[in-house]
Amino acid sequence: VESQGSSLLPRRKGRFRSGPCPHSQGSFNHLFYLSHPADDWKAVNEELQKACRYVIKNQTTGDRLKIRVVAVNEGGRSPPVALAEPVVVKEVADRPKVRLPRFLRQRYVARVGDKINLTIPFTGKPKPVVSWTKNGGPLDTKRVNIRSTERDSILFIRAAERDDSGVYEMSVKVEDFEDKAPLILQIVELPGPPASVKIVDTWGFNVALEWTAPKDNGNTEITGYTVQKADKKTGDWFTVLEHYHRLNATISDLIMGNTYKFRVFSENKCGISESATVAKEEAKILKTGIEYKPPEYKEHDFAEPPKFTTALNDRSTTVGYSTKLLCSVRGFPKPKIEWMKNQMIIGDDPKFRQICVQGICSLEIRKPGNFDGGVYSCRAKNDLGETVVSCKLEIKQPVIPEGDKK
Ligand SMILES: *[C@@H]1O[C@H](CO)[C@@H](O)[C@H](O)[C@H]1NC(C)=O
Ligand SMILES: *[C@@H]1O[C@H](CO)[C@@H](O)[C@H](O)[C@H]1NC(C)=O
Ligand SMILES: *[C@@H]1O[C@H](CO)[C@@H](O)[C@H](O)[C@H]1NC(C)=O
Repeated sequence: VESQGSSLLPRRKGRFRSGPCPHSQGSFNHLFYLSHPADDWKAVNEELQKACRYVIKNQTTGDRLKIRVVAVNEGGRSPPVALAEPVVVKEVADRPKVRLPRFLRQRYVARVGDKINLTIPFTGKPKPVVSWTKNGGPLDTKRVNIRSTERDSILFIRAAERDDSGVYEMSVKVEDFEDKAPLILQIVELPGPPASVKIVDTWGFNVALEWTAPKDNGNTEITGYTVQKADKKTGDWFTVLEHYHRLNATISDLIMGNTYKFRVFSENKCGISESATVAKEEAKILKTGIEYKPPEYKEHDFAEPPKFTTALNDRSTTVGYSTKLLCSVRGFPKPKIEWMKNQMIIGDDPKFRQICVQGICSLEIRKPGNFDGGVYSCRAKNDLGETVVSCKLEIKQPVIPEGDKK
């Protein structure tokens, strides 16, 4: 028998086990008695029990206990057999405890290929039994080597792979006492490039890009993206955005007349993806700075009802001074444009000049007179729908100098 904390545990080679345990025959039962303080025998197990092992729990430290056992069968009780010496109930000298180093209390991050050599000290007396699990199951000892000494356990991985990531748990145990500590390994590497990148719009000196997250984040979250542009003539790449968090961007200040390509890299805590994803489309910045759409996208991708991207603004002019109303419209197929004055279609009245080029529409009102004021509207219409913008035009009387009035 040995004493552990407030429990008494039988030793593996207990004094009561000098012969084979008879419980397999089914007819023997054991009664444990305990003496406290002396010669006052009391049963500790309320029920008879068959096992030849019993833990007497919840004892008071410092007590000296005599212990004896009686075997019972249908024929009656055997004479008791007692321990030669009383047992002193002692606190465990040293309960088992994993002393997880501070840097392992949060997840431990290493890169693919790194050597992992972690020493985890523990305490406990007598020497605890050390065991490890990974994600609640057994360790793959081909990958992970564990070596334990009296004082520590070393987890060693020659060259880490992503699959070595997981929750490892180290346990130290002495009989009923156990301490466990989790150890989270995360094996990371560079991410892959974004899954796709495309140019969604080109207007003026700007290009709108959109991309999707990489298929492979390198086993750790993506921290940002790097966006580069290249003028097709030189082919040299320049970084325009770094550590950029969103999945779309507008690249501005492009140079008129150039044709650009764009590519995007992904980034995680290991660094920037080795390759980039290049947008298939190119962006040509037209001389006029007007929207350009690569022909291969006209058929499907850009079919959309008309939409005014710039509305008409109210204006005022003076009798006799020509003025222009301006708006811009997009839509595919190319919308048909009609101008109206006070809801009446203007048609080809020579007083007005209607121009619509690359989505920029203007109505010139030549030398307006008193009756040219009113509400002007521009209607854009294609197979997918129609839309209208309007504005007010005010015609002011010219200011006649005092002297000229009569
Ligand atoms: C342990 O002993 C205390 C008092 O000695 C008692 O109150 C308690 O119920 C006991 N616990 C068990 C699990 O027997
Ligand atoms: C692991 O680290 C221990 C010290 O913490 C060192 O003694 C041992 O040599 C290392 N093992 C390997 C294989 O690097
Ligand atoms: C990104 O896309 C959203 C939704 O389409 C849009 O509102 C936003 O303006 C875009 N951002 C940039 C920088 O282009």
